[in-house]
Amino acid sequence: MLIGKPPDILSSEITPQAEYLKYLNRRRFLRNAAAAGAVALGADRLAEIFDPGAAAADETKLQTVYSPLTTTGEQLTSFYDITHYNNFYEFGVNKSDPAKNAGGLPTRPWTVKVEGKVKKPLTFDIDALLKLRPLENRVYRHRCVEAWSMVIPWVGYSFSEFVKQCDPLPSARYVQFLSYYNRHVDKWAGETDIYWPYSEGLRMDEAMNPLTLLTFGLYGQTLPNQDGAPVRIVVPWKYGFKSAKSIVTVRFLEKQPHTTWNDQAPTEYGFYANVNPNVDHPRWSQKTERRIGLPFYKQIRTTLMFNGYSDQVAYLYKGMDLRKNF
Ligand code: MTE
Repeated sequence: MLIGKPPDILSSEITPQAEYLKYLNRRRFLRNAAAAGAVALGADRLAEIFDPGAAAADETKLQTVYSPLTTTGEQLTSFYDITHYNNFYEFGVNKSDPAKNAGGLPTRPWTVKVEGKVKKPLTFDIDALLKLRPLENRVYRHRCVEAWSMVIPWVGYSFSEFVKQCDPLPSARYVQFLSYYNRHVDKWAGETDIYWPYSEGLRMDEAMNPLTLLTFGLYGQTLPNQDGAPVRIVVPWKYGFKSAKSIVTVRFLEKQPHTTWNDQAPTEYGFYANVNPNVDHPRWSQKTERRIGLPFYKQIRTTLMFNGYSDQVAYLYKGMDLRKNF
């Protein structure tokens, strides 16, 4: 397992984080100025005017706005670690494999199909989806079921905004996400005994919670392939495996869908997969986690119920036995 940074880290891989922090500070300054009544224009509009990057020709850069749903002031995990310590089993089983092997994932043209319990099936082009709503910067804690964690500045908008475009029927009680799968591209998938494509799902009310993020980027730029380009879901109060990458199909369903890890090992990976320090994985404790990228002596921290998002999501599970519905 890759714990520290390799000594040959390129400066090009460090720069985006430094730039991003400067960018966030500039936005914070402008927002404070606006709040103090020093300026008459909207802070985000001003940030766009003053953000020299907004006009840059770099096609990986995304124009973004601040989000009030940014939820943590913790130190961000480095761009390098977020993009070189991944689970994306279509591209290999080791954490460093997706960065090496996902380069061939064809992210354009790309469409997302909507099917199932909807007024009529739809197909969205990825570039239309990118323009559907202003893209927000949302810093979330990211907790893997394997008891490691990161803090990631994602870019996207609430999945509920997308659902509004889909006209689901009242009978739609669940949403299923299916990832891209092509055995000629995802050659490494054969190394596992997983049934492809990767499938994940949420109950409709979970999917509609504003924290559930339809995610197009991180650190202000488009998602690197290994992080689920060009579009993935991020559900910050659940273990990372609920966050399907490189989504090609969204299905609205009446019944709970089959999901990859729950099918693989139902006693180890529940459908709900809420971060819960009180319910251990059968083979390890979930009470603590290892924060990737920090010095060894600072890595271990206490895992928080719902990954620290209780105020926003605990209501979804009122009356449910979370030991049974783990
Ligand atoms: N999505 C697909 N298509 N394939 C995968 O193997 N792995 C899941 C999830 N989404 C996975 C996936 C798991 S186990 C985790 S922990 C997160 O992605 C990891 O996301 P990250 O690599 O961006 O940290």
